[in-house]
Amino acid sequence: MSLPALADLKDLDGARVLARLDLNVPVADGEVLDDTRITAALPTLRWLMERVEVVAACSHLGKAKGSPDPAYSLEPVAAALAQALGRPVRFVPDCLDPSRADAAPGELLLLENLRFYAGEKANDAAFAAQLTAPFSHYVNDAFGTAHRAHASVVAAAALYPTGRKAAGFLMAAEVAALSRVVNDPEQPYVAAVGGAKVSTKTAPLEALLGRVQTLLIGGGMANTFFLARGLEVGRSLVEEEMVSTALQVLDAAAARGVEIELPSDVVAADAIEGPSRIEVVPSSAIPADLMVVDIGPDTRARYAAKLAPARTIFWNGPMGVFEVDEFAAGTLAVAEAIASSPAFSVVGGGESVMAIRRAGVFDRIDHVSTGGGASLEFLSGDTLPAITALET
Ligand code: 3PG
Ligand code: MG
Repeated sequence: MSLPALADLKDLDGARVLARLDLNVPVADGEVLDDTRITAALPTLRWLMERVEVVAACSHLGKAKGSPDPAYSLEPVAAALAQALGRPVRFVPDCLDPSRADAAPGELLLLENLRFYAGEKANDAAFAAQLTAPFSHYVNDAFGTAHRAHASVVAAAALYPTGRKAAGFLMAAEVAALSRVVNDPEQPYVAAVGGAKVSTKTAPLEALLGRVQTLLIGGGMANTFFLARGLEVGRSLVEEEMVSTALQVLDAAAARGVEIELPSDVVAADAIEGPSRIEVVPSSAIPADLMVVDIGPDTRARYAAKLAPARTIFWNGPMGVFEVDEFAAGTLAVAEAIASSPAFSVVGGGESVMAIRRAGVFDRIDHVSTGGGASLEFLSGDTLPAITALET
């Protein structure tokens, strides 16, 4: 099985191409707040625009519930895309609108949110057939959506024969970079995993234990690990029901000889917004009336020392509530340490990507994944449905 590349497409002269992208970007008040995914889609769009007659880009945005919802319109994204490309983009206000079929040669379209139809998330074959009907070729560059078995990435791909469907450049680059940290990664391999919940990261944590030498834990999920180690966590966010899972991860790490590091000190505060008390305390002495909001300075230094000699690094999930300036130091320190390491480094997940932008180290990371859930599932060794659907 191999992933067909853009170069494998046949009969591109006069082709009308449906390009499934992941343009699920944060939008507020009609403004795109982070254009990472837009920028990442440009090479494939440019390549196609030079060779084919019409490109119709499509995507989902947000958690639309199967019917039109202006809050999740892709219209602001069409404007941002046009600006990024320096060429007009015609926004089509319904992804099945017949006008998408009579695009003029050289036109680039962006179709409205696919999730305005219930058939998208249902992986409905009839919806996929309607969506794809006017298009001779299909390109999937939506790595961020590759873990979803939805119509535009699974049922749609099945409708195109070899030579008429391909992975875009982004999809190919994501698969190549993530494969490098999954298959025989160069040692020492150090992974840093943070974010709020153990529950969403159990499978990737277990998969990482089979590959890494060192696993650094931070963020809200560290609190659940503290409970598993018998520590008190005050008013911190915890997942009581995941304590036994955290214990299993600790035991599995010990059994495999994987070094698993928890924060030795933390920043604790009385509130996330407008805190009046902020203290640095050892993890063994978290005050009952405070909550953990970041890793402490000792932990930052220890984690940086573990990352420095690494040859492979994977990072997903912030070390603290980094959206709040006072609680960002731990996440920014990890971002800086990863950028400074000579390791092949991969960072995935929207929040970690925002953090490396804030730290100003985006260009010093080898691969910044546009997939959060998708990169974690890839790392867990799962075959992603959209990739299977493209493979020939
Ligand atoms: C993402 O941002 O995680 C992808 O675009 C997939 O979106 P979803 O999590 O809403 O399915
Ligand atoms: Mg998601």
